[in-house]
Amino acid sequence: MSFKLPSLPYDKDALAPHMSAETLEFHHGKHHNAYVTKLNGLIDGTKWADKSLEQIIQESEGGLFNNAAQHWNHSFFWNCLSPDGGGKPKGDLLAAIEKDFGSYDAFAEKFASTAAGQFGSGWGWLVKKGGKLQVMATANADLPLKHDATALLTIDVWEHAYYIDYRNARPKFIETVMKELVNWDFVAQNLKNA
Ligand code: FE2
Repeated sequence: MSFKLPSLPYDKDALAPHMSAETLEFHHGKHHNAYVTKLNGLIDGTKWADKSLEQIIQESEGGLFNNAAQHWNHSFFWNCLSPDGGGKPKGDLLAAIEKDFGSYDAFAEKFASTAAGQFGSGWGWLVKKGGKLQVMATANADLPLKHDATALLTIDVWEHAYYIDYRNARPKFIETVMKELVNWDFVAQNLKNA
């Protein structure tokens, strides 16, 4: 089995001006595509070829893990964004956030500061772990699946995610994604399935 670059769930220019078509051309079309191509090259003709992406992530390390995890992380990230996104979550998701963080604003502040504070490349996450919602950051390709946690929402804080549109202003990128792009319906669905 070989893996495929998933299509974006929206047009390339649909997230502008918050995330430009140029960013998506590079981030999805070049970076994510390169992870998929490298992953396929590493598993072709090996014992990994028939395993699921999650199995490869759980059982591998080094370059194979990095490319498999980055394929998973980016596929998940595209679904966390929507041209109709942003604002505040509603319903059960909002209730769960308020229960475990005190308020939506307290969660948003913690999520933003955790993601902004990740040293170097990585990811900010809202996860469910041990029955509770938590915020975490991971370095490089690392992801919640490796930490007994279920991913609900992520933001890519590698420089390639924001350098074209925001230059070095990672906090502004995070703030804009939260305000304008987060697909709360997808996050709510992930919570339902967690
Ligand atoms: Fe990325």
